[in-house]
Amino acid sequence: MSVKYISQIIKEGAFSCLLCAKPECTKNCSKGVDCGSIISSLRFENFAGAFDKASKNKACLLCTSKECEKNCRKSKITQSVPIKRVISSLLEADASEAVKKYVPTQEGFDADKVDLSIDFMGVHFENPFLLSSSVVGSNYEMVSKAFDQGWAGVAFKTVGVFVPDEVSPRFGTLAKESNTFVGFKNLEQISDHSLEENLECFRKLKKDYPSKVIIASIMGRNDEEWEYLAKVCEEAGADILEANFSCPQMAEKGTGSDVGQNPELVAQYCKAIKRGSKLPLLAKMTPNLGNMEVPAIAAINAGAEGIAAINTVKSILGVELDDFTSCPSISGKTSVGGYSGKAVKPVALRFINDMKQCSELKDIPVSGMGGIETWKDAAEFMALGCGTIQVTTAVMQYGYRIIYDMIDGMKRYLFARGFKSVEQIIGKALPQIIPADKLDRRSRQFPKFISEKCVGCGRCVTSCFDGGHQALSLSDKGRPVMNKKCVGCHLCILVCPSGAIVPGSRTSK
Ligand SMILES: Cc1cc2nc3c(=O)[nH]c(=O)nc-3n(C[C@H](O)[C@H](O)[C@H](O)COP(=O)(O)O)c2cc1C
Repeated sequence: MSVKYISQIIKEGAFSCLLCAKPECTKNCSKGVDCGSIISSLRFENFAGAFDKASKNKACLLCTSKECEKNCRKSKITQSVPIKRVISSLLEADASEAVKKYVPTQEGFDADKVDLSIDFMGVHFENPFLLSSSVVGSNYEMVSKAFDQGWAGVAFKTVGVFVPDEVSPRFGTLAKESNTFVGFKNLEQISDHSLEENLECFRKLKKDYPSKVIIASIMGRNDEEWEYLAKVCEEAGADILEANFSCPQMAEKGTGSDVGQNPELVAQYCKAIKRGSKLPLLAKMTPNLGNMEVPAIAAINAGAEGIAAINTVKSILGVELDDFTSCPSISGKTSVGGYSGKAVKPVALRFINDMKQCSELKDIPVSGMGGIETWKDAAEFMALGCGTIQVTTAVMQYGYRIIYDMIDGMKRYLFARGFKSVEQIIGKALPQIIPADKLDRRSRQFPKFISEKCVGCGRCVTSCFDGGHQALSLSDKGRPVMNKKCVGCHLCILVCPSGAIVPGSRTSK
């Protein structure tokens, strides 16, 4: 069974799961299989963790009653998640081979022996995973729950000396095919609690959770406010400051991303913050510009020790064609707002790569974010040079509990690849990203067709003709046949739903 088939099972099964807070499947399994937790680990790409849990109790393989599926809440909406099929497939010998291919070996895995701790800007983190500054970390109850579940720190919701007036509704999502949450738009500004309330929260968190890291995200409107906020946040127990130069939907002009797009203002405000506090400073950058290195260098030259990126991307989600409004519609109107979640991950990775490839910034610590949902997303950000990872949208969609599979999945990956600590993967992908003029243009890689896996849908032929180089046609038996027009673009591989097309070997042009 191929890795692509495993991901097919996940698409059909785990991705259709409602991820219930109290799963009826687990509750109703008379054999004691924690189906909910296994499916959840699959959903969050912790294949090895899911396999481990499933193989401890293989009752699914023999089960005929399928109480899990009969009680699945999804059946009240459309149809039940195929729980037995998902877990049984995972347990079949050849399926486990596929799992092993994804995460080569789990023999001898001991979670305690894999070190996820990291020193970042002189501060120790028990793991690299933090809540990013937003609604997900905006009061004591929320942050303490997140800390209890395993998050190493929080970039607390941005605090200011003013309290903004917020709109309702303030969120919207972009849907594609069956996925209703490809990207997320928000119109939220900074904290709607008073500064004193927020500072009290820092004090209490620091007292009750001394080993967790508190990053105070701040936003001033002039030098005096930035300096003052830096001072009072340090006094209240923050470990690191994060300057919000990047919120794209502030109602007040000259704040948020207006600052991040202006290197002179970035430098001026970093200097003001440094007058107010000795804490390490992260400058949080906006992706709403062409070249992030310019404001990032300005921040570093003015005293910031690190960069946080990215904040949200300016967006309009779409237009409701019944009444020509756009979401979120506030009494019929909307504004440009910040876009986040999985859809922005490639944009975030691009900006992080740009900074890490820049000679003035390559050694500067970066806290990365933008569309991180799983340990795998996080590992990718770290492989591009990030020292810590921040998350908002995935927590809004799924809850703090995603940290379980982020920690477990990351540890299993590091173990399987022989890394002793998470620090060892930082920057590993950077040498593989080179300027376009340096890419190998003398050879190419044609696709290879595995006929026994082909289901004859013809998607490869359609895409190759309409979006490629007309190199494929369907045989009488309904199988793709390649001609000499193939340029090796791999569109056919990408659209094949059954894993029947794979890259062949490279040949000279
Ligand atoms: C509802 C919402 C509120 C946010 N509020 C803040 C904020 O107060 N300060 C800040 O620096 N970033 C804020 N952000 C941006 C996030 O911290 C993060 O940079 C961005 O959403 C990308 O990460 P994600 O894809 O994991 O959400 C907010 C994002 C969302 C979705």
